[in-house]
Amino acid sequence: MIKRVMVVGAGQMGSGIAQVAAQAGLQVWLRDLEPRFVERGLGVIEKNLARDVAKGRRTEEEKAAILGRITGTTELGPAAECDLVIEAIVESLEAKLALFRELDSICPEVTLFASNTSSLPITQLAAVTRRPDRFIGMHFMNPVPVMKLVEVIRGIATSDETYAAIRNLAEAMGKTPVEVNDFPGFVSNRVLMPMLNEAMFCVYEGIAGVEEVDTVMKLGMNHPMGPLTLADFIGLDTCLAILNVLYEGFKDPKYRPCPLLVQMVQAGYLGRKSGRGFYIYD
Ligand code: CAA
Repeated sequence: MIKRVMVVGAGQMGSGIAQVAAQAGLQVWLRDLEPRFVERGLGVIEKNLARDVAKGRRTEEEKAAILGRITGTTELGPAAECDLVIEAIVESLEAKLALFRELDSICPEVTLFASNTSSLPITQLAAVTRRPDRFIGMHFMNPVPVMKLVEVIRGIATSDETYAAIRNLAEAMGKTPVEVNDFPGFVSNRVLMPMLNEAMFCVYEGIAGVEEVDTVMKLGMNHPMGPLTLADFIGLDTCLAILNVLYEGFKDPKYRPCPLLVQMVQAGYLGRKSGRGFYIYD
């Protein structure tokens, strides 16, 4: 039974994960490297819950109880007291390997480890710990409080007990877990990223403008966001990193990143978070 969880990384994904975990009644530690990152994550959660209160979906008391279950920290030490650690840090293999090595030395062997990676190999991350059977991918979608899916990725050694515990937890968080195996991009990004990349090629090759491509997919396919708006929302650096994982993982040219995407990332046009991507943001 998972009752206490540490979420490592208080960014867009980590703060959302901490929020839905606390909403499910868990005690949550939200950890980031600097107090200002922790504060920003807690601020986002507070704002989301305040909107729920304003819309009549929650009472002030419920909001206070949820916030009361989340403790911000810059330490990893409290992970030793947790049943599960969910990693949601920067999408870098080296950074994640270093973090899991450190967590492995801090936590007792029973602690479950999950990574929210969007495409890095779960099996490789698990292999630097003493607990590859208690290691799993728990891939939430952005915005976490809204999106229903959790892609649950089994590494080669993930045990049935670990899978069952994480599936039950995802359901307790109000999400729908879907079981997938550990191959590049899993299912979500193997299907999504080629579509976003193809939308970028349409712009790169001058077939249509940014807004035109988005309008085709929004109105023609009923997508809530056009693919270029969605790419900006995800982050163009993240899109490029995932496409590179697919390209290198399968050695198949169909996943080659669009040169326009590469150039935009080189320019620092990272999408919504940097104020400029395919669109310009205030
Ligand atoms: N946090 C919390 N709640 C949010 C939110 C956020 N960041 N953004 C929107 N919401 C809430 C809004 O408050 C609103 O709720 P209420 O009106 O009931 O209060 C609801 O979501 C709908 O928002 P809006 O009316 O402002 O706008 P919308 O109808 O366009 O919906 C959206 C926004 C849910 C983000 C929708 O545009 C959408 O579904 N977009 C696609 C998102 C998507 O594809 N996500 C997956 C990305 S891929 C990924 O995450 C994984 C990866 O590995 C890359």
